[in-house]
Amino acid sequence: MDRSQAEPAGACVATPRLVSERSDRQRAAEEPLSGNLPSELTVSRQAVRKLTVSRQAVSKLAEAKGQLMQPVAVVTGASSGIGAATARLLARPQAGYHVVLTARRVDRIEGLAAQIRQDGGLATARVLDVTNRSAVQAFAASIERCDVLVNNAGGAFGAETIAASDPLDWQAMYEVNVLGTLHVTQALLPKLIASGNGTIVVLSSTASFVAYEGGGGYVAAKHAEHAIAATLRLELSGEPVRVIEIAPGMVRTDEFAVNRYRGDAERAAAVYAGVAEPLTADDIADSITWAVTRPPHVNVDLLMLRPRAQAAQHKVHREL
Ligand SMILES: NC(=O)c1ccc[n+]([C@@H]2O[C@H](COP(=O)([O-])OP(=O)(O)OC[C@H]3O[C@@H](n4cnc5c(N)ncnc54)[C@H](OP(=O)(O)O)[C@@H]3O)[C@@H](O)[C@H]2O)c1
Repeated sequence: MDRSQAEPAGACVATPRLVSERSDRQRAAEEPLSGNLPSELTVSRQAVRKLTVSRQAVSKLAEAKGQLMQPVAVVTGASSGIGAATARLLARPQAGYHVVLTARRVDRIEGLAAQIRQDGGLATARVLDVTNRSAVQAFAASIERCDVLVNNAGGAFGAETIAASDPLDWQAMYEVNVLGTLHVTQALLPKLIASGNGTIVVLSSTASFVAYEGGGGYVAAKHAEHAIAATLRLELSGEPVRVIEIAPGMVRTDEFAVNRYRGDAERAAAVYAGVAEPLTADDIADSITWAVTRPPHVNVDLLMLRPRAQAAQHKVHREL
């Protein structure tokens, strides 16, 4: 039997011998190697023969190499709704991304990343508040590469008229939807350019194009997000980076409307009352994944999606 197989994994075993017992062959084996190796790396042939590297270590190295080779997609707000669904789809073999899930709720993103890995995908969870500029910069510096950025973190807070609304809600919406997108995009842009085929996705909304009563602060923030996507596309002309804007209408996710109505689940449910099939997080994730996986020269500038029951912002067919 090959002795090295009998030795413990990872062991490098030196067998003690008396000098006088050495044969010429053994002496030759212990002479320093020269020629092919750098001078500081002088090892005896015997030591090289006895170096047994565990299979586990080899497969870990291969995995690490695979991770570096695999394109990376960063998804913000991946702890729920559209972001979580998008992370799942981008990690599937059809898309083939190593997804980096970011959000503030660590348990959520770690749980989802573990599920994705169990299903054979590559996923990493990283806590990130997109409104914290220095944290965003540190995060961007800590990742090896970035091929796709999905700016999804966002939300609506409050549904009061402009006359009655709280400026703090407007500030919070501006910070997460607009400045959050700005911070993350700025921080990752050098890596997106360096990837040679970068993609930035901006999750805006039909509210980026049409106003509605009680939506003032959200409409303003989402209009600003549309402005970021449109401006960035112009400014990046000539760079190998696409800018894709996805603008959904009514999407039924677990938390979006509940957050808007400050935890009032009944009011949140009323948004979708009688609507046969509002869009789902998976519908939007499917469209994002489709747009991202087009050949790199194809830029889906803007994709607006609504459920069939929503012909326009105000024209929603309800079966009540
Ligand atoms: N649902 C709709 O009808 C609809 C329609 C059009 C557009 N959209 C847009 O689509 C995006 C996702 O919506 P959704 O329905 O999936 O809502 P959601 O389930 O409420 O998801 C929002 C995500 O954003 C994250 N987030 C919030 N504040 C954050 C912060 N400061 N830093 C980092 N992450 C933050 C949340 O995670 P943590 O709380 O864990 O941080 C969560 O994962 C939003 O930009 C929304 O405006 C939604």
